[in-house]
Amino acid sequence: QNDRDSQYILSNFAKDYYQNILFNHEQGKTIGLPYLHERGLGLPTIKKFELGYSLEAWDGFTNQALAQGYQQRFLESTGLTIFKDDKKYDRFRARVMFPIHNVSGRVIGFGARTLKSNDKTPKYLNSPESEIYHKSDVLYGLFQAKNAIRAQDVCYLVEGYLDVLSLSQGGIENVVASSGTSLTEGQIKLIGRYTKNITVLYDGDAAGIKASLRGIDLILEGGLNVNVVTFPQGDDPDSYIRKVGDLVFKEYIDAQAQDFITFKTNLYLHEAKDNPVKKADAIREIVTSIAKIPDSIKRQIFLKQCSALFGIDEDVLIAEFNKIYHQNR
Ligand code: GTP
Ligand code: MN
Ligand code: MN
Ligand code: MN
Ligand code: MN
Repeated sequence: QNDRDSQYILSNFAKDYYQNILFNHEQGKTIGLPYLHERGLGLPTIKKFELGYSLEAWDGFTNQALAQGYQQRFLESTGLTIFKDDKKYDRFRARVMFPIHNVSGRVIGFGARTLKSNDKTPKYLNSPESEIYHKSDVLYGLFQAKNAIRAQDVCYLVEGYLDVLSLSQGGIENVVASSGTSLTEGQIKLIGRYTKNITVLYDGDAAGIKASLRGIDLILEGGLNVNVVTFPQGDDPDSYIRKVGDLVFKEYIDAQAQDFITFKTNLYLHEAKDNPVKKADAIREIVTSIAKIPDSIKRQIFLKQCSALFGIDEDVLIAEFNKIYHQNR
């Protein structure tokens, strides 16, 4: 048994431990479960994603693990226990625990949300990188979503754990989050094993728009197709589906999904109005995204669409495209 195996086994033990706290310990029953129910999550979803709860205590988990014979060095390398000077304490305390699975369903790390709403402690904590947990190559929810992604031939990409859980519970099971990092090339490749189509569903705030723009270019570079759905200011997919219900939510994403050109056009032309300088900037923004697409036929199609949309002569657009295309390689 090598070190990676030991980390898998310990992570699975931790998952069972936190799950047991959630369902059987006083703190789980009176604090953790009610919190999850308040957030609209029912038992089938809580069980499907193997959610748990960590005690309000310094070393409840660590002592239990050591008593069961788990070695200190694996507690340290998985980050479940923090060793500092001669002291040791649990990394995750008084938090809802979200086990993170690899594509074959083994637990490799955790996300953890505090129930407190103050600035004293970060809202979310994540396991650190380890031999089995490489954040940039992991998508939260992919193990539970992969069959649905293949069947629907599209993957919904959201920002947070709760977005994954709420949508999945609402019957939209083809949903994943790039939790713990901003979207990476490796994560896009991972999705690409199941579908070539990604629809980005990020939060309805400035950060969400910015992340969508970054995501679009990364997805196009990865050779996948991308659509975008935006939400009203202040809403994220989780809050929105809870507000409008599953049915209206599904209609909303079908009706609101925009291809990246339309999304960028609406975004930039909103402020450009009839200002020709801003309009030119908007066109260049879009052409820059088109230049990221590896497939030359797709590039051609999108350039045509862009030329028609803006009423710009195709030759002029292609000349501009060529400049940008060659600058970027
Ligand atoms: P809720 O408030 O529980 O609905 O969470 P949320 O997912 O809507 O949170 P938010 O939109 O603020 O953040 C999206 C994702 O970014 C989260 O699910 C986390 O993965 C991550 N994140 C947010 N806050 C923190 C933080 O303080 N630390 C870390 N490491 N990650 C965070
Ligand atoms: Mn890594
Ligand atoms: Mn946000
Ligand atoms: Mn959010
Ligand atoms: Mn949220």
